Amino acid sequence: MKLADQIKIIDFVERGDERGNLVVIEGENQDIPFDIKRVFYIYGSDSTVVRGQHANRRTKFVLINVAGQSKVKVDNGFETKIISLDKPRMGLFLDTMVWKDMYDFSPDSTLLVLCSEHYDGSEYIRDYDAYIKEIREVHGNE
Ligand code: TYD
Repeated sequence: MKLADQIKIIDFVERGDERGNLVVIEGENQDIPFDIKRVFYIYGSDSTVVRGQHANRRTKFVLINVAGQSKVKVDNGFETKIISLDKPRMGLFLDTMVWKDMYDFSPDSTLLVLCSEHYDGSEYIRDYDAYIKEIREVHGNE
């Protein structure tokens, strides 16, 4: 299981002109690889906070720092990677069962999250040891 197949940086088209910038995100596989069922955004977190710290059995996400910056550490149980979200035109796609920590929020950070599913707390895995156990059951120690 390769982390590179489970995450993807998406460069949205920036339709700027002298009036400013505009980024359009169309659902249903046009700009992101799922139908958007839910949107939430995180702001007012600071550099001392770590958010996320979970994996999702069913939900896929696209993260976009529409203002400010943050970092995301992704982990598939075998590999980890840190991605800086620092441009409103940059999206980070996360497949199901990717563990994620969001941190290092700038004071002006607004992190927009597009989701493939409605909220269902029972599909979240919030215990890292339980996550690793579930991954190992499916993929062994490959
Ligand atoms: P949480 O998953 O801890 O947020 P983050 O992933 O940013 O760390 O969610 C915080 C609270 O908000 C928690 O009580 C669940 C609730 N919540 C919803 O009701 N719906 C949602 O879509 C989300 C993301 C969270």
